[in-house]
Amino acid sequence: MKTFEWRSSSAEETDAFAERLGSLLKAGDVLTLEGDLGAGKTTFTKGLAKGLEVKRTVNSPTFTIMKEYQGRLPLYHMDVYRVEDEFEDLGFDEYFNGDGVCVVEWAHLIADQLPEERLELSINYVGEQARRFELKPKGERYELLCEEIF
Ligand SMILES: Nc1ncnc2c1ncn2[C@@H]1O[C@H](COP(=O)(O)OP(=O)(O)O)[C@@H](O)[C@H]1O
Ligand SMILES: [Mg+2]
Repeated sequence: MKTFEWRSSSAEETDAFAERLGSLLKAGDVLTLEGDLGAGKTTFTKGLAKGLEVKRTVNSPTFTIMKEYQGRLPLYHMDVYRVEDEFEDLGFDEYFNGDGVCVVEWAHLIADQLPEERLELSINYVGEQARRFELKPKGERYELLCEEIF
């Protein structure tokens, strides 16, 4: 499947891009986020939340594995950085097939538990303010979504 690339030159640009993407999301959508610490996964998720009309402040859920926010649709923000056993059933299935949008930071750590259809994003640090985004749609829904944004 096609890979889409996008370059950001500031946190504000990432925020605006994510907000636009968020405004296009539907119930059951799953996005995975990869990137080193400080790449911008949480910054991106905050923008996405705006696009979902979430009013509360989105923080990194590193110590809770999942945080839920109410918006136009529920946003389920997962961060599996601290999951030690990749096969431990985290009960995410009902969220992946659920009524809201799921964003999973460090998703490769639970690769076997992810739904087949998803939008994979990886954020690469280029410079202090510069980031390279790579979007890999898995499934037709996400391919169409990428074509809509780019
Ligand atoms: N183009 C950019 N996109 C996203 N974040 C950026 C960008 N340029 C600078 N930053 C900064 O980098 C940091 C990213 O942190 P964060 O989003 O918490 O990363 P992660 O969740 O991947 O660890 C923030 O301080 C943000 O302001
Ligand atoms: Mg983070």
